Amino acid sequence: MFKQFFGFLRKKNNDKIKGAEVDRLTNEVDRKKLPRHIAIIMDGNGRWALRRGMSRSFGHRAGVESLRDIVKVCSELEVQILTVYAFSTENWKRPREEVNILMDLLVEYFNREIEELDENRVRVNPIGRLQELPPAAIRALKMAAERTCSNDGLILNVAFNYGGRQELVDTVRSVVADVLNGTLSAADIEEQAISERLYTAGQPDPDLLIRPAGDLRLSNFLLWQLAYTEFCISPVMWPDFRRIDLIKAILDFQRRERRFGGLK
Ligand code: FPP
Repeated sequence: MFKQFFGFLRKKNNDKIKGAEVDRLTNEVDRKKLPRHIAIIMDGNGRWALRRGMSRSFGHRAGVESLRDIVKVCSELEVQILTVYAFSTENWKRPREEVNILMDLLVEYFNREIEELDENRVRVNPIGRLQELPPAAIRALKMAAERTCSNDGLILNVAFNYGGRQELVDTVRSVVADVLNGTLSAADIEEQAISERLYTAGQPDPDLLIRPAGDLRLSNFLLWQLAYTEFCISPVMWPDFRRIDLIKAILDFQRRERRFGGLK
């Protein structure tokens, strides 16, 4: 009984210390130098779950809670755009059961969260080859996008059945179509002709890319857009990734000197 009581007190005290640390770090963030666009590769769900003797699906489910938290923090900080990598064009190679779980989680996420996203003025913008998804997933993404289309808060790009190379292929197709129909001349194909045909057309490129779970690769994510993005690789697995980890990544970003190939 006493042991339980002291355990409870200790936990309460630890939470208080952690809360104070989050507040302290949040106060250190320079609101004038926030990244306008943050991109996240939500990695580590599988490893996180297996380390706990649970199924990979359990990790994905836990990952949804991190997504909820991070969307909330980005909204509060008034970050303009958050792009999250939720399902890649290569993820179809996973066992059918895991693919099905990810599709179900997508539907569940939007059904459960749409009210709150809308209340927080979040605009959901799905990116990827959406037409190849199962009908329920397409419906969920369409519903979320339509319901939130006039919101003026955080733009939440949900990359689902997304691949950077596939995006470039789709862009090249669109460029070629416009050259053939005469609205674009081959001589006018410059960077802008590409960027204005990407899934992220009209948006600034990400300033900060966060990859939780420690791996050092791009995994076919935003290949064009990440040309001058600052990378932050976090050892924290995505299901454990919370406000404090995002704040630490932003503080790290704010200490960087960005030269875009030039000199200071
Ligand atoms: C990569 O971790 C993660 C994914 C392939 C899925 C990400 C999905 C979520 C966070 C939840 C779903 C979100 C929505 C909007 C439906 P991994 O499984 O490759 O982890 P591992 O590298 O440890 O195996």
